[in-house]
Amino acid sequence: MKITVLTLFPEYFDGLMNTSIIKRAYEKGLFSFEAVDFRKYTKEKHGHVDDTPYGGGAGMLLMCQPIIDAIHAVRTENSLVIMLTPQGETFQQTKATQLAQADHLIFLCGHYEGFDERIRDYVDIQMSLGDFVLTGGEPACAVMCDAIIRLLPGVIRQDSSDDDSFSNGLLEYPQYTKPYEYDGKKVPDVLLSGHHENIRKWRREQAVIKTASYRPDLLKKVKLTEQEQKLVREILKTK
Ligand SMILES: C[S@@+](CC[C@H](N)C(=O)[O-])C[C@H]1O[C@@H](n2cnc3c(N)ncnc32)[C@H](O)[C@@H]1O
Repeated sequence: MKITVLTLFPEYFDGLMNTSIIKRAYEKGLFSFEAVDFRKYTKEKHGHVDDTPYGGGAGMLLMCQPIIDAIHAVRTENSLVIMLTPQGETFQQTKATQLAQADHLIFLCGHYEGFDERIRDYVDIQMSLGDFVLTGGEPACAVMCDAIIRLLPGVIRQDSSDDDSFSNGLLEYPQYTKPYEYDGKKVPDVLLSGHHENIRKWRREQAVIKTASYRPDLLKKVKLTEQEQKLVREILKTK
């Protein structure tokens, strides 16, 4: 996979690309990455990429010409152009999984008051990180890139992402590490039993309990057994 970020602040991505798992994956060549300053595409004689909004109002808007020229310059027939905007579809794990299959992702980071509306006609999808407003698209883009890159083959162990929260529609089951007892709190005995089937069943039940307790909204899309449905009803009654 190749990731191209169109941004006014390419240096924002230095931290992402030089840290931990993402850095190792990049160095192993599991994906390629470029952050391109779209300022270099402006034809405006003073190098501006923004201007005041028609009709008045606060702030500056990113202009069509530099951004649309930058998209044309980096796009190929296998590219998917993603505009970062609070007005887009909310990014979720299912979307990360889908985008991890793409050949080339181009992220378009806005700034100031956002984009001239006509730029939307040149993108394939519009994605939001959530219902809040950031100063720029860069933090949202870095978060999305991280979630997508960790799903690429070879970046982390497949069985590690399979059980992650949201992967099967549920929150992940509780996990424990050493010591066995801390401040009087013990690790559940089943996890020390070495009985794989009992551990699997316990984890599934705990994932259902956790999801019903913290994010019951997620359960609408999950197929539960009759016994699990009963368990959920009992938990919801106590809430
Ligand atoms: C201050 S925001 C502009 C918000 C715009 N005036 C609006 O109300 O929709 C500047 C840029 O930050 C990015 N941004 C802000 N919030 C975001 C979010 N929740 N998800 C993704 N990108 C966001 C977008 O790229 C946006 O163009």
